[in-house]
Amino acid sequence: MTYHELYGKLVLLSALVSLALVTAASATEQVSVRYLPEARLWILDGGEVTYVVGVNERNELQHVYWGNRLWRDQDWRAPHSIPQWDGVDPSTNVTPEEYSGWGGARFFEPSVKVSLADGVRDLVLKYVSYEIHNGDLVLHTKDIRYDVAIDLDYHMYPEGVIRKQATIRNNTGQVVTIESMQSGTWYVPHGDGYRLSYLTGRWGTETQLIQEEVHPGMKVIESRRGVTSNQMNPWFALDGPDRATEDHGSVWFGALGWSGNWKITVEQTPDQQVRVTGGYNNFDFMYPLRPGGSLTTPPFYAGATGKGFGEASRVFHRFQNSEILPRRSAGRPRPVLYNSWEATGFNVDEAGQMVLAEKAARLGVERFVMDDGWFGERNSSRAGLGDWIPNAQKFPNGLGPLIERVKKLGMDFGLWVEPEMVNPDSNLYREHPDWVINFPGRPRTEARNQLVLNVARDDVKEYLFRVLDQLISTNDLHFLKWDLNRHFTEPGWPELPIAEQRTLWVQYTNNLYEIIDHLRSKHPNLEIESCSSGGGRVDLGMLNRVEQVWTSDNTDAFDRLRIQEGFSYAYTPRIMMAWVTDVPSFNDRRTPLQYRFLVAMMGALGIGGNLNKWSEEDFIQASHMISYYKSIRVTVQYGDLYRLFSPRQGSFTVNQYVARDGKQAVLFVFQHAQQYGRAAPTIHLHGLDERAIYHLKSLDGKLAEKMETASGAYLMHHGLTVELKGDFDSTLVLMERTN
Ligand code: DGJ
Repeated sequence: MTYHELYGKLVLLSALVSLALVTAASATEQVSVRYLPEARLWILDGGEVTYVVGVNERNELQHVYWGNRLWRDQDWRAPHSIPQWDGVDPSTNVTPEEYSGWGGARFFEPSVKVSLADGVRDLVLKYVSYEIHNGDLVLHTKDIRYDVAIDLDYHMYPEGVIRKQATIRNNTGQVVTIESMQSGTWYVPHGDGYRLSYLTGRWGTETQLIQEEVHPGMKVIESRRGVTSNQMNPWFALDGPDRATEDHGSVWFGALGWSGNWKITVEQTPDQQVRVTGGYNNFDFMYPLRPGGSLTTPPFYAGATGKGFGEASRVFHRFQNSEILPRRSAGRPRPVLYNSWEATGFNVDEAGQMVLAEKAARLGVERFVMDDGWFGERNSSRAGLGDWIPNAQKFPNGLGPLIERVKKLGMDFGLWVEPEMVNPDSNLYREHPDWVINFPGRPRTEARNQLVLNVARDDVKEYLFRVLDQLISTNDLHFLKWDLNRHFTEPGWPELPIAEQRTLWVQYTNNLYEIIDHLRSKHPNLEIESCSSGGGRVDLGMLNRVEQVWTSDNTDAFDRLRIQEGFSYAYTPRIMMAWVTDVPSFNDRRTPLQYRFLVAMMGALGIGGNLNKWSEEDFIQASHMISYYKSIRVTVQYGDLYRLFSPRQGSFTVNQYVARDGKQAVLFVFQHAQQYGRAAPTIHLHGLDERAIYHLKSLDGKLAEKMETASGAYLMHHGLTVELKGDFDSTLVLMERTN
């Protein structure tokens, strides 16, 4: 029985489903969306958060409040615009408008900028009406003269996260060209001294956490690369002048749900108002709306907490688990997978993969994934991309025999694809050279020897759906690793009228989503991993339609501590694929197998080493670690994460995960490099029940306290000590609640 079949039957799943239903039922009651007619404002309550927006005396929508939950409706008064301070900053420029057009006296980052065919480029939005249905608030606005309407859609989730989305409708008789269209603006309390946190990096160095002061002016984090990017991730957090820590202080945070060009502008205005505006990147943006046309922005999700960065992450993780990921909380835990890429590169064939599959099965692996190299003339990155038929030399009888073997060994089978790309040396490109994005007569820049198919074209979209649908059906696939290994250049779409060619930036991603959604509805058992040269396509748009993501091509366990820490600020460990690979690694570094395992066990565990080179001892240790992981993975993947010691400071990294039902807690401890013979610091646990008694189990005897049980109070206030020696030592302590 494969992992897939097994889990179809497991009681655990139904337990998770019922847990999810109970949580959802009680959580829905925590959400309230209402209008106060006298004060002319709307209140959205959810989780521990209240959000308030109102109408001012000029009939503009004005931001009123976003922060800790408040309860008394009588506290609210109708908002008033902020009076003019001087001639150069009129009231319209200093009033925190909820969603402003570029028009009138407004000099900050606009939410929307348009030009009309008659030459007018001024858009001044006024409130028209509202609707509340199914917990959604829609605020209708319209320009003062033209029939250009913008609807602002708000949804408050039980976790206290709000989704903002805007739709523009051209009800005029002329073309309205959108030059910028943002999902919304978030305001933090007026004042300065804020700090911005964001995630940056490059290939092999994704999700590095940066924290810097917000100064007057604008800080832009963005992607102009056609995809989310390894360089910047569409997530931000702000904390105030008193500086939040992991456990204390106010933090406002958010992320865009978009996998194409995106932009988040963090702006401190001259009158000390910090505002965060995000949505489509307006770089090279031009989206004409014919009469009757409309455009909706990506969703922009955001939350707030008074309990520090740790709680900000936990809230966002819970939100992703319950509201964003496919199958939500009812989705099964991530299976332990094996991936052949680091072992074989492009050198895959039936016999070699079968040998690896047999070895992987011995370890307790539940899903076997064959990576790049199985199709067309794909013997290197130079050829074959686009030709999704098994290579006849490597797989003379197709993929059937390998898949059969993998299933007999009790594992699911998964396959790597990179559908959006093509090598010029491929049959697909020879047949359809016009299918790639390009400017006619100009060079077509190659990266990794490949070009980008114009997925914005409907014929390309339909073709890709057909090819993938056939691949999945013929081979009864349960898993695709969906890769993308280059960013967009020369983004031309010559088949369209010039004025419409830049809609590619939006249409590409919409069509990509459509292909995935269509495949998923046709193949309900299909699971997908989003990969893009590592972590280049990790965002809430993708997470809405994939079960997991590839975090980084850098699998060096020590580097991973920081990559994974940054990742955890924004995204749940449930989706964070982490492989154990061979040493020497990325940095020519050697770390012990246990250290590599424990680092990878803090997310969704995978094995990526060359099993043909593993010793018998490695196999014994790895089998033990994999079965251990299976006993803690629900806690790691669905639980609450506490980052106790950061890899950015000092010589230790310590993370603790607490199960949602409080029955299990797992402590991971890593020592980077010991200096001066110093012992590890005392570790105070978090998130336990003071009155509960926990069984303590050390993975390897490195827990200094030799006691069998301890109270939650003792573990949190007295703390634990571990005995680590030398460089790259590590340990794990398991706590199981006894009462
Ligand atoms: C980039 C991915 O990040 C790797 O894991 C691997 O799948 C290669 N592509 C294959 O070409």
